[in-house]
Formats: sequence, structure tokens, C-alpha cells
Amino acid sequence: MAVLVTGGAGYIGSHTAVVLHEAGRDVVVLDDLSNSSPAAVDALRALTRPDLPFVEADAADVDAVGRAIADHGVDEVVHFAAFKSVSGSIADPDGYHRNNVGSTVGVVEAMRHNGVSRMVFSSSCTVYGEPTDLPVTEDSPISASNPYGATKVACEELLAAEAEAGGLDVLLLRYFNPVGAHASGDLGEDPRGTPDNLVPYLMQVAVGRRESLSVFGDDYDTPDGSAIRDYIHVVDLAEGHLAALDALAADRGSRGCTAVNLGTGTGYSVLDVLAAAGRVIGRPVPHQVVGRRDGDIQRIWADPSLAADLLGWRAGRGLDEMLADHWRWQQRHPDGYAAT
Ligand code: UFG
Repeated sequence: MAVLVTGGAGYIGSHTAVVLHEAGRDVVVLDDLSNSSPAAVDALRALTRPDLPFVEADAADVDAVGRAIADHGVDEVVHFAAFKSVSGSIADPDGYHRNNVGSTVGVVEAMRHNGVSRMVFSSSCTVYGEPTDLPVTEDSPISASNPYGATKVACEELLAAEAEAGGLDVLLLRYFNPVGAHASGDLGEDPRGTPDNLVPYLMQVAVGRRESLSVFGDDYDTPDGSAIRDYIHVVDLAEGHLAALDALAADRGSRGCTAVNLGTGTGYSVLDVLAAAGRVIGRPVPHQVVGRRDGDIQRIWADPSLAADLLGWRAGRGLDEMLADHWRWQQRHPDGYAAT
């Protein structure tokens, strides 16, 4: 039996594929490479097995997903395939809905046609919007603050309804802010164009690809005025998916549809991250404070206790390790996969 990883050539998907392979799962990767690179598949094969099955297809293509399931004896699915840029979603809301919701519909239909019932879904803490109470638990109010977030809310609702109708058991994993890279330095995050996210941008400054990081706002209601997030090592996050699949397979209170936060429970400000990056890299990272970014929330961090109780999973890697691993990847691949 095998696990299908849609979006498995992407940042979180590729790290998860490695962790699942190392745990003894037969992994099948499906990705349309619309926001990832064939070189990521090569890197993944180098870290797993040279003949790791890779299907180049859109996850919205029910027939292609169904064929991948049937051809490889798939009995569980981790569904990552989605666009993830907040600014991209504001520019192209219908495209984001078509891609993110459409792929989820496609995967669910293909699973149903082939009698596959266990799914782990890639959701986001963006579904909490700007929280009023911290830390956020899975029962905190849901409110999308941008079209990307709205697609995650829509997918969660669809999957909950499918589970209610019967035939699907799904864990909705709500990620906080993933950073870091595989310890080898050969698998990592390779954003196309200008990075939206803090750590990829900061690392491109540190490696000399960009001049200076803009810190978006120092007038938030936080101790140093910059915004706070719960940064989590991408390999911890990947291990959370393994724990989720194991919980579904063992039916540990995971029938139906359950949302689970994957975070560390600790918040760091943008200036905390800059200071830690300066320590890890060995020199300060050039930066300047500018105005707030539209659509940003000021503070969020997770209550990760349900993940510990239900999945037996806790994040173990700290901020310095996340940044050191990200830096290793950036140094070994200054121009991302393009140069490999
Ligand atoms: N930031 C900067 N400068 C930058 C980039 C980011 O100061 O160049 C700041 C942001 O303002 C924010 C923090 O760094 O305060 C983190 O920003 P990211 O863009 O790295 O992450 P976000 O928290 O905005 O977004 C992430 C994911 C989204 C997801 C969201 C949920 O990228 O997919 O978390 O809260 F929707």
C-alpha cells in the first residue's frame, strides 16, 4: 500500500515525502509543477530512492489522480497541492478558488471512486484571521482575512461535509509559519520571484541576492512593536503528517473530520527572528523598518496541545535550528533549485 502526496514537489510536500519514505511508507508524488521545479523532484529522489514514483498532473484532474491511486495501490492521501501566496490571492481570487478548492474536489472524487478514505489535509492558521484570544485552539473562531484564507476555509468546510456524509476520515492540519530546510541542505524552499515570506526574503538578503529586508511595521501592540508568529521547523511539520497518518490508520479518535494545530506554542517577533538570524549567520542582516503590510495580523501562536494528545506529536526544533538549516540550504543553493 502507498501514500499519495499531492503537491509533493513543493516546500512542505517534499519534506513530508522524505519523512514518510524514511518511516517506511511507499510514497507516490503527484504535482503539476506549476509552482515547483523538476529539480525539486530530483532532490527528493536523491534523498529517498531514484525511482520514487512521480506523476506530473493537476490534482483537480480526477482521472489522473484516480489512475495514480489505482496504479500504485494508494490507500491514504496527503493533500498539499494548492497556491499559497496571500498577495497572489488578492490579485487573482477566482484563480485561487479554482485551483485550491478545485484540486480538493478532484482529490476527494478520485479517492471516493477508488475506495480510499484516509486523508490528511494541508490547512493553515490563516483560518483564524486576527485572533482575539491567544494561544489559538482548534475551537477559536474561524474568519478568513484574504482570498487565500477563504480557500482554506472552503476546503475545510467541504471536507467536513464529506466526512459527515460518510466515506472520508480527514485530519485538517492547521500549520503555523513553516521555516527551515532538510538537514542535508539539499531540499528547501525555493520561491519563484520575490519572496513573500519573512525567512526566504531574509536569507536572500543574507546570501547577497537582495539588498535589505523590509520589516513591515514596528508599531504593533507587541513588546518590540513588530508582529509575532509561531515559526515551526518544516521537518517538525513533516513529522506531524506522519503522526497524523498513523493516527488515522490506527483510528485513534480520528474518525470523521478533526482540525489540529501544528505549531510550537511559542511566538517570536520579526525583530526576534532578525536577531536570531544574525547570530546564526554570524553577521547582522541589513534591514529597515517600513510601514505595515496590508492584510497582516499582529499576533498569533498556537495551542499545540491537541496535536500532542491526539497524534502524540510535538515540535522539537527551536528557532536557531530552523534558521541554521534554512541558511545551509540557502548557502548551498543560493539561486534555489535553478542552479542545481
Ligand atoms: N515580514 C516582514 N518582511 C518581509 C516579509 C514578512 O517584516 O519581507 C513580516 C510580516 O509582516 C509578518 C511576518 O514577517 O509579520 C511573517 O510574515 P510571512 O509572510 O512570513 O508569514 P505570514 O504570517 O504573513 O503568512 C503565513 C503564510 C500564509 C498563511 C499565514 C497564516 O505565508 O500562507 O501565515 O497566518 F496564510
